[in-house]
Amino acid sequence: MIELLNIDCMEYMAGLPDKAFDLAIVDPPYGLGIASNGKLHNNSSYDKGFVKNKDYKPTNWDNAIPDQNYFIELQRVSKKQIIWGGNFFIDHLTSQRSFIVWYKKGKDKNPNFSPAELAWTNCSGLPKVYFIDWIGFGYINTGEEKIHPCHKPIKLYKSLLQDYAKPGDKILDTHLGSGSSAIAAHYAGFDFVGCELDKDYYDAACKRFKEQTAQQSLF
Ligand SMILES: C[S@@+](CC[C@H](N)C(=O)[O-])C[C@H]1O[C@@H](n2cnc3c(N)ncnc32)[C@H](O)[C@@H]1O
Repeated sequence: MIELLNIDCMEYMAGLPDKAFDLAIVDPPYGLGIASNGKLHNNSSYDKGFVKNKDYKPTNWDNAIPDQNYFIELQRVSKKQIIWGGNFFIDHLTSQRSFIVWYKKGKDKNPNFSPAELAWTNCSGLPKVYFIDWIGFGYINTGEEKIHPCHKPIKLYKSLLQDYAKPGDKILDTHLGSGSSAIAAHYAGFDFVGCELDKDYYDAACKRFKEQTAQQSLF
C-alpha cells in the first residue's frame, strides 16, 4: 500500500514504534535556500534551447537543515537509512563504509549545476554510483516533467529499491517532494509512506502519482 500524507514528518514519526520501517530513503532540506526566490536558474545563461525554463513558488523550506532530533527519530523508526545530502549533515551522522553517488551527467551541458549528489547510508556493501542523466532544475532528459525544484528521477529511486530493499520491506520517505519515491515504490511493489509538509507540493505529488500509476508501465 502507498500512503501519501500531508504532515510534518516529525509529527508522523513521533507516533511510530521503534523500527516500524525497514528502509528509509529520505531527501531532507540541504539548507541551501534553493527555493527561496522561486527562480531556480538564470534564464539568460540557461535558456540555450536544451532546457525548459520553470519558475516555482518562493518558499523557505530549504533555508535550514533539520535538527539533530530529526536524525535521531529517523534512526529510531527505521532499520536502515539512505539520506540524500548526507554531506550536508555530517555533524548528525556516523562514519560508514558505504555511500551512494548519483552522477547526473547533465553537468557536461550546463556548468551551473552540480554534477553529482551524495547519499549517506548505513546499508552494508561497497559504495555505489548511479549514472542517471538530469539537467539542473528546469528540464530532465529522461522524459519526466519536473514538478518540484528538487525533484529526483523515478529511475534513481527504482535503482535504490532494487539494490537496497528486500521483497516485503516497508519504505519511508519523510520528505516526499514530487513523489518520485512513491511512484518507484508502487511499481516495485513495496508498502510505502511518504510525508510532505507543504500542501501545494503534496497536492501536486498526489496528482502526479495518480496520473503516473494509471499508466500501464513507466519503465
Ligand atoms: C529536497 S525536497 C524532496 C525532493 C524529493 N526527493 C523529490 O524527488 O521530489 C524536501 C521536501 O521536504 C518538504 N519538507 C520540509 N520539511 C518537512 C517536514 N518537516 N516534514 C515533511 N516534509 C517536509 C519540503 O516541502 C520539500 O518538498
